[in-house]
Amino acid sequence: MKIINVFLAAVGLMALAGCSAPASDDAEMDRFVTDLMGRMSLRQKIGQLNLPTGGDMVTGSVQSTDLANLIRNEQIGGFFNVRDVEKIHELQRIAIEETELKIPLLVGADVIHGFETIFPIPLALSCSWDTAAVETAARIAAVESSVNGINWTFSPMVDICRDPRWGRIAEGNGEDPYLGGVMAAAYVRGYQGDLSGKDNILACVKHFALYGASEAGRDYNTVDMSRVRMYNEYLPPYKAAVEAGVGSVMSSFNVIDGIPATAHKWLLTDLLRDQWGFKGFVVTDYESIHEMTFHGVAELKEAAARALAAGTDMDMVSEGFLKTLEASLADGSVSEQMIDRSCRRILEAKYKLGLFSDPYKNCNPELAAKLTFSKDNRAQARRIAAETFVLLKNQDNTLPLKKKGKIALVGPMADAGGNMCGCWTPTCKPENHKSLLQAMRQAVGNDAEILYAPGSNLYYDPKQHEVAAGWRKIEYRSDKNLLSQAIAAARSADVIVAACGESAEMAGESVSRTNLEMPDAQKDLLKALVATGKPVVLLLFSGRPVILNWESENLTAILNVWQGGSEAGDAIADVVFGFVNPSGKLTTTFPRSVGQIPLYYNHMNTGRPISGNDYFVQYRSNYLDESNEPLYPFGFGLSYTTFSYGELALSSDTMPKDGSITASVKVANTGDCDGTEIVQLYIRDKMASITRPVKELKKYQRITLRKGESCNVEFTLTANDLKFYDADLNFVFEPGEFELMIGPDSKNVSTQTFKAE
Ligand code: BGC
Repeated sequence: MKIINVFLAAVGLMALAGCSAPASDDAEMDRFVTDLMGRMSLRQKIGQLNLPTGGDMVTGSVQSTDLANLIRNEQIGGFFNVRDVEKIHELQRIAIEETELKIPLLVGADVIHGFETIFPIPLALSCSWDTAAVETAARIAAVESSVNGINWTFSPMVDICRDPRWGRIAEGNGEDPYLGGVMAAAYVRGYQGDLSGKDNILACVKHFALYGASEAGRDYNTVDMSRVRMYNEYLPPYKAAVEAGVGSVMSSFNVIDGIPATAHKWLLTDLLRDQWGFKGFVVTDYESIHEMTFHGVAELKEAAARALAAGTDMDMVSEGFLKTLEASLADGSVSEQMIDRSCRRILEAKYKLGLFSDPYKNCNPELAAKLTFSKDNRAQARRIAAETFVLLKNQDNTLPLKKKGKIALVGPMADAGGNMCGCWTPTCKPENHKSLLQAMRQAVGNDAEILYAPGSNLYYDPKQHEVAAGWRKIEYRSDKNLLSQAIAAARSADVIVAACGESAEMAGESVSRTNLEMPDAQKDLLKALVATGKPVVLLLFSGRPVILNWESENLTAILNVWQGGSEAGDAIADVVFGFVNPSGKLTTTFPRSVGQIPLYYNHMNTGRPISGNDYFVQYRSNYLDESNEPLYPFGFGLSYTTFSYGELALSSDTMPKDGSITASVKVANTGDCDGTEIVQLYIRDKMASITRPVKELKKYQRITLRKGESCNVEFTLTANDLKFYDADLNFVFEPGEFELMIGPDSKNVSTQTFKAE
């Protein structure tokens, strides 16, 4: 026993002295952490559970925290929202050199779609359906973060969302649980690698759970849903992140079964740990413990005790753990084991990150200067951004534009350099982002003339404009001639490009909208442009589905460019002028009306479905004043070329439980240029013990075909692909008849049936 203790002390000292920590093997880690905890006081352990904000970046109510003081007093396990590599280095130095235990700190930040090289918003990234691209984006974000001192990102956000009123739809992967799962895993791989490398950072899957189902799309609102729906439709992406080895989980702001997620034992322990086997730690969302008071369930002390007991390990900003756990321990509302358990999980994360061996990892101003916003990273961001754009309409093959003649570029987003990158970019430097105007002028050189006129503000109301323009200012123009100048430019041009839609601050956290149409000021501009009789191409900037009924009827072409990151200008020019052929497909349904929301492709049939295109029929599940159909369905997106789909063939009309079935279809590029197509496979379980969706995405392939080329696309399904959670929440295979559908989007499919036995 004595020998072991001497060994442990030596290992501990070695690590704390800056030598290599023991190999990252579980038993070694266990010994290391046990030894360290053996030397910690209760107060020091509670300190590890505390996560204050540095306040340099504002992502919630700002607290002025004296981080250095908290660190010296060992009242802190990490901090977040500090944006300066030297400052972070200094804070880490204080932890290592000026404290008794020398425990390194977690340094968090919301690196959601890039650090300084900004990739498109996650919703856009998901529309690439390209997991390799997402992994690359996350990898680059990890490298840039780590050299800037950050070792923990609050990403990926994987909340399924079917309600575009909710501004945070921008941060997730859309409405599909399968796609959400593969994207979640790609982010985790990209950020974490094996965690221990110098440029690997800890990921944090959020917001656990169900936050995307906030009632009425109003942020922070109530969530309520059945377990069957949770398991089948909302939980799969979080589970996929856990299976990919995500190191931390953030609890959500919302309630589940009336209990705030942060204090929900079933969620954080029974499901997350006991069923899914999660081994990392749980951090709350911003002030979630404190917010339990406003939920009306507990004052700070009880809230903190309940959160800890439920399985929350780290308290973001509330200081509920710091201020109350000792008293709760004294009166028995928490146990010392609970505090130890959480402290251990946090120390283990630090160990796995390699912080005990090298607390600074890559944190290094010289490296930061070299690797941040580098040419290579920006080239990747430009390439990936172009993959995320979705071509919604292209009448008369108006796009791509020829580089000749006169092109009128109008709209409030046309010269909005730093604003195109989108929400959740607190670490970016907007002054370094090229505007669309600059990028288009550069792309055409002397071959064509770009006539620019802003045409409108984001909103008519200056106040509304100012809020929407946010910190990356889009100047409000009070010029009375705004519209007429744009019309004059449009009249003298051959084609009009309108850069309109949502600025960065019109989507993201706390930006719910009830009206999803283009704001009046911008719609009036579009109407006036159409009235010139010239072709009008809309470049739609958005963080969510926008209602585009009028636009889809009256404009010549619509390219949804989302919020495309720091390289959006060049990436848009690449697609507009045809250097890149668009290939993105929607991962979120575009409704025709707010009244249809929630509208999603994988809905249930109901007992009174409409048949075919029968709308407005009595005693059917429909509306008196609107069709059930979306304007653009899930999976939809055009290309500059065309693809034809041959006959769908199945390897057999039965699939044995232990076997598989293969579906194949010949896809040909029948247009005039090379292109990438996303071939989608859906199934429908025709009869089951519980009602099943009319369609569920099960597989897809991104294929690139040269002009005139074709290929046979094959998919193999096994019983696992047909399973679902039944009424008792067992993941079951139920034999019976299935439809198998393949097509270019969720509406336009060929169908075959087979029997699973
Ligand atoms: C958001 C989280 C974010 C956190 C820290 C909260 O307001 O909901 O997504 O990670 O702030 O900035």
